[in-house]
Order: sequence, then structure tokens, then C-alpha cells
Amino acid sequence: MKPRVCVTRRIPEVGIKLLREYCEVRYRDVMAPMSREELLREIRDADALYCTLSEKVDKEVIDAGKNLKVIATMSAGVDHIDVDYATSKGIYIVHTPGVLTDTTADFAWALLMATARRVVEADKLVRAGKWEFSWAPTMMLGYDVHGKTLGIIGFGRIGQAVARRAKGFNMRILYYDVVRREDLEKELGVEYRPMEEILREADFVTLHVPLTPQTEKLIGEKELKMMKKTAILINTSRGKVIDQEALAKALKERWIAAAGLDVFEEEPLPADSPLIELENVVLTPHIASASHDTRNRMAEYAASGMISVFKGEVPENLYNKDVLKIKPLSEVKII
Ligand code: DGY
Repeated sequence: MKPRVCVTRRIPEVGIKLLREYCEVRYRDVMAPMSREELLREIRDADALYCTLSEKVDKEVIDAGKNLKVIATMSAGVDHIDVDYATSKGIYIVHTPGVLTDTTADFAWALLMATARRVVEADKLVRAGKWEFSWAPTMMLGYDVHGKTLGIIGFGRIGQAVARRAKGFNMRILYYDVVRREDLEKELGVEYRPMEEILREADFVTLHVPLTPQTEKLIGEKELKMMKKTAILINTSRGKVIDQEALAKALKERWIAAAGLDVFEEEPLPADSPLIELENVVLTPHIASASHDTRNRMAEYAASGMISVFKGEVPENLYNKDVLKIKPLSEVKII
């Protein structure tokens, strides 16, 4: 018997092709995420859900999936899924760690450079016909990146990849994580510091933590006030890690110099967000992992993890390993 899979929205072709080899696929081939009503309806007879971070898979959705055995999410983050509840019900969760590390780190750097050197503002100025003098000694001055201090908060795969890139800019690199990585400090040329020290000392602070109850609003008014007036804050992790209202105030009142943000408390960012009015912030629509190669890899990895579960094999991208104790693979093996 082929497992029935509900794919909530358009994904790269490689993912669908792979799923169709092993599963009966109900594919919603549209760009927009699935509405809640449709999700609650479509999950009713599905053996598996293939979703993205835009669909909230909470208790209600999980309960509606009477036959649900696997949730595959085309994302590294799983904060949109009630992991504990799914695990308690013996539902396997697979995600896409590792395959987006370098692409996301590249993008954190793109934001950092664009923000420090005012690339977006400069582009707008040229297009608006406001480029007045061919060169001017004080036109569009930004901040140097090379030789400065970079603070990395969250030192998992992506934080480490950001550090590797910083070496080429001859930066002093400080990092904080709940787990100190002494084993990597020499190789990557990084120094461990408490978070407060990083906030006070760094010229650039970049966030790479998962969203959990412990990291929600990790950066608020108090933390922003600790930062240098010339500091730049970069976020490619999750919007809720920053208190966005406090950040808008900090940028407006220049407690810090600027920010580069790819993620927001609410996505899409509402048109009336105070951030939109500000010039000292670069805003991008949650695209840090959006390269052709990486999105193909993510689509395929989520699909192959799901198929492994149905074959009775432990996938390397299984997120909730505890589920193995609750429901053995022999009970979910269909293929
Ligand atoms: C993730 O995978 O969690 C990113 O935010 C999207 O690529």
C-alpha cells in the first residue's frame, strides 16, 4: 500500500518527483500556504503531511490527522510544529538541517554587507535620480566590516559557517551559545563570551538561535541599549527572537546604527510596520535559504526522510528521536 501524503503548497519538482515514486500524493501546486480550514480538512485521511514553516501544525491539526504518522517540513526550524504533542502521539517529524547551512550563512553576510555599506539605500538613490555629484567626500558613508568585531549569538551549524566567512574579513570573532564549543575555538579563531559582553563589544551582532520559549524576545530594549551606537544587528533566524517594537524604537532613536532583517514577528511584514519607514534597516522576505540548489536539496531531503520512515528506516533528519520509543518504526512501515 502506498502512504497518502498531503503536500500543502508548491515545492521544487525534485521533491514531488521523489514523493510520487513511493506515495499517493495530493499536491496543492500553488505558491500560497494552505489555509487553516483546508489543512484541517486535507489532513483528515493523510498518512503524512509535507509542510513548510508557514503552516502552523498545532494540537488541533495533529488531532485532525487521525492516520497521521509523519510530518515532513521543508525547513530546518520546527517552531511551527507542536513537537511534544506530535511525539506523544507517535508521529515522526523530519526536517532539513545541514543542507541550508552555507546558503543561509552567505545570506547573513549579504545582509551584513548591504546594511553596513548602505547598498540598498544607494541603489534607491540612483534609481530616484538623486545622484547629484559624481563623487563626494561625505556621500553615503557607511561602516567598515573588515577588522571589526563580530558577535555571533547561537553557534550551531549556521553560526559556525558565519564565523568561517568572517575569517576572510580579518575580524575578531566572539560567540555565545548555551553550549560552549571549545573544540572549535582554535580552528575557527573564535572567543567564547557571555551574551552581555558580546552585545557591549561587537560592531556587528548576528543571530543564529532556534526559536524556543528561552530565545523568544532574546533581544529586547535592555539588550539593544547595551549595544554600541555604531553597532549593526543582523537576524536570519526567527523574527520572534527580537522584540520588534523595541528594535524599531532603537533604530529610530539611533540606540544602534542599523539592522538587516530577513525574519519578522509576523510574516509577511505588515505594510504599516514602523520598520518600513526607516532608512537604517534592510528588509528581506525570509529568503536566506532561497537559492535554486538549496531549495532543491531541502525539498528532496524532507521527502527522503519521510520515505525512510515509511520504509521502516531511521532517517538521518529525524527531529524527534524520542518518538522511536513511543511508536517503533515497525508500526509505521507501509512501503
Ligand atoms: C528554515 O529552514 O528554518 C528557514 O527559516 C527557511 O529556510
